[in-house]
Amino acid sequence: MAIRPILMHPDPRLKKVAAPVGSITPEMLTLARDMLATMYDAPGIGLAAPQVGVLRRLVVMDCVKDPEAEPRPMILFDPEIIWRSDETGSYEEGCLSIPEQYAEVTRPAEVRVRWRDEAGAEQEELFGGLWATCVQHEIDHLDGKLFIDYLGPLKRQLITRRMVKRKREMARA
Ligand code: NI
Repeated sequence: MAIRPILMHPDPRLKKVAAPVGSITPEMLTLARDMLATMYDAPGIGLAAPQVGVLRRLVVMDCVKDPEAEPRPMILFDPEIIWRSDETGSYEEGCLSIPEQYAEVTRPAEVRVRWRDEAGAEQEELFGGLWATCVQHEIDHLDGKLFIDYLGPLKRQLITRRMVKRKREMARA
């Protein structure tokens, strides 16, 4: 497994709609495992393929926060939200492509998601709590959408300006 570099906002590749994975090739399985390794290394609770520069519909996540609990690494190929609750919930969100910037985002509290697993088998699950926030945030990445797109223009511009400055400093280092 290899740690892949994570793209930083602003990057045009983070604004694109990703293509379906379709048949799950060995390359796609390697990518998924690399993405899990990259996510745990960061550390983060979710990562979408566009964040490592691959414009395909693939998400990985593990929202088990308790270090004593069994981890639950999940790989979701071509995930689709098939139901959203009317009830909403708010979480302070962050993103590995927008490090150290956080903001409250309101989304449906529960979502039912369908995807294909590593064996290509169709899976379906109802997610709530942090899992619901995470899976919606990651699927948004597949549609070129970032959590800051839910914020007002001033807050969004402020975060983007900070990121431009940070990228400039990183390039100089
Ligand atoms: Ni993100």
